[in-house]
Amino acid sequence: MCGIVGYTGSKQAAPILLEGLARLEYRGYDSAGIAINDGDKINVVKAMGRLAVLCEKSNGGAAAPGCIGIGHTRWATHGKPSDANSHPHVSENGRIAIVHNGIIENYASLKEMLVNRGRVFKSETDTEVAAQLIDYYYNGNILEAVSRAVRELEGSYALGVVCADEPNTIVGVKSHAPLIVAYSDDGNFFASDVMAVISHTKTVTYLEDDEIAVVRNDGIKFYTPFLDEIKKEKCIVDWDISAADKCGYEHYMYKEIMEQPDAVRRTIEPYISDGRVDLSAVLDRDYVKKLNRIFIAACGSSYHVGVIAKYNIEKLARVPVEVVLASEFRYCDPIVDQNTLVICISQSGETADTLEAQREAKRLGAATLAIVNVEGSSIAKSADKVIYTKAGPEIAVATTKAYSTQLAVTVLIALYTAECCEAIPDSEYDKILSELLSVPEKMLKILDDKANIQYLAYQHFNNEDLFFIGRNIDYALSLEGSLKLKEISYIHSEAYAAGELKHGTISLVVDDTLVIAVASYGRLVEKTLSNALEVKARGAHVMGITTESLKQKVGAVTDEIITIPDTHEVLLPSLAVLPLQLFAYYVALYRGCDIDKPRNLAKSVTVE
Ligand code: F6R
Repeated sequence: MCGIVGYTGSKQAAPILLEGLARLEYRGYDSAGIAINDGDKINVVKAMGRLAVLCEKSNGGAAAPGCIGIGHTRWATHGKPSDANSHPHVSENGRIAIVHNGIIENYASLKEMLVNRGRVFKSETDTEVAAQLIDYYYNGNILEAVSRAVRELEGSYALGVVCADEPNTIVGVKSHAPLIVAYSDDGNFFASDVMAVISHTKTVTYLEDDEIAVVRNDGIKFYTPFLDEIKKEKCIVDWDISAADKCGYEHYMYKEIMEQPDAVRRTIEPYISDGRVDLSAVLDRDYVKKLNRIFIAACGSSYHVGVIAKYNIEKLARVPVEVVLASEFRYCDPIVDQNTLVICISQSGETADTLEAQREAKRLGAATLAIVNVEGSSIAKSADKVIYTKAGPEIAVATTKAYSTQLAVTVLIALYTAECCEAIPDSEYDKILSELLSVPEKMLKILDDKANIQYLAYQHFNNEDLFFIGRNIDYALSLEGSLKLKEISYIHSEAYAAGELKHGTISLVVDDTLVIAVASYGRLVEKTLSNALEVKARGAHVMGITTESLKQKVGAVTDEIITIPDTHEVLLPSLAVLPLQLFAYYVALYRGCDIDKPRNLAKSVTVE
């Protein structure tokens, strides 16, 4: 949700900022802009549309001389995408320029105060208000002006600020939005995340809320809101540039689908030793025994992981699990006490709704466990305990490898909880664990056999409406299959519990409606097939997704079929999600969609 980056050093800033913005574009791509201090004044170049437009307008940065500057890529909130609403925003006198990620909730009253004092505004944004406010308090010291102004801001913000009168300084400050600073031999940076600077340095510092960083050529200093200087640790990021590059693939999404076997292996390995799952570092065994309920709060695909986890944890451990959309958790008056565990699942670790759900859970006295992919992210930092998924940077807006690693972690939790609660026979436990360890290999097999999925995508890419049906975990997985298709191919689709379709929605099924029946769960396959026959009787064309051993049975009913290797039922979604991801990918490819950056979306949703 908006990416910001800043650089000051010995090199020309603009090309470095444009490169950083290219790596942050997944956070928003409605418009982009840079502001460069040329030593005398601040020059701003900005443009509506993708970063490529800005690159052309600034001649790859060559048209903007100067060694210090800030940049922004936008996901519009206040004011539609336009040149005027693009960042950076400058104060009326051109002295202050800022970039902003977040939402300033009290911008209207601040704007009114500034207008009453004669300030004139050019945009509809909340950000311009912050620029004018900083300038209003400017009295020859940009650090003091920023610290004074942010005391009046309500909402969420990560700000990067430059001042024409102080050509060696960038000030960064954050509250409820991510901000890092980074160090290199050729200069120093601030950015929304590590991705923006990874080609220059792996040495970073994560800022906490309300801390202020002053970034200069020769070093970075940190301050409290009241300007007492503080010391902060440097960290070394443990992945390299290839993790953030396409490495020859046409799309990040495809690369990330292919990375899933390794990502799952990396994620589960640290928690398995001597044939047992050991999560005691994050979940005390005695505490787990006393659990009366688990809540899972998450959004989008991470929520879909929660829906599968509910089935699996309840099945194996017999502990009640409620899955709640994070945006609803705060408002559903959850019944929570000290024996309730609230698990928040998030790839980015910055999703505002999930972060707020976690805060609410803590406020109500529950223990919180976060399953997060991005180290140092807000959700990771504010949880009592964290399990990191080791998916590596996920850049395509549509999640794939983060989803798979989250799902694998929930299986670890199901097994561990089941063992702590003495709810699972040893033989069953051993079978599931050994199958979990073979998931990466079975995933590879599906990825190798993708030609059939590509062929089926070609047959169906012109459909405008389709349904996914399934029961139990197959239904939970259908939710993800449907979302994947919708978000990247813009085809309307719905996921239905197979038995529910006949209670109304079946009226939409007509000749040639495509229905994808996820029928991998052996116990309920006959039931799902009956529902498939019901839609076939109304003219639908049915594609089945099933296991090798159910292939004949399912294939006898469906018009076409995709198979996955057999595995334990708990792990079926871990395999069956791959054909759904690939199907969505190929359909979007044949439709000519912008797969990595679907319209209206952004990867990290930092607004509620
Ligand atoms: C869909 C997708 C989103 C995210 C959701 C939560 O492909 O990626 O639905 O799952 O926005 O994001 P995180 O997991 O970062 O909290």
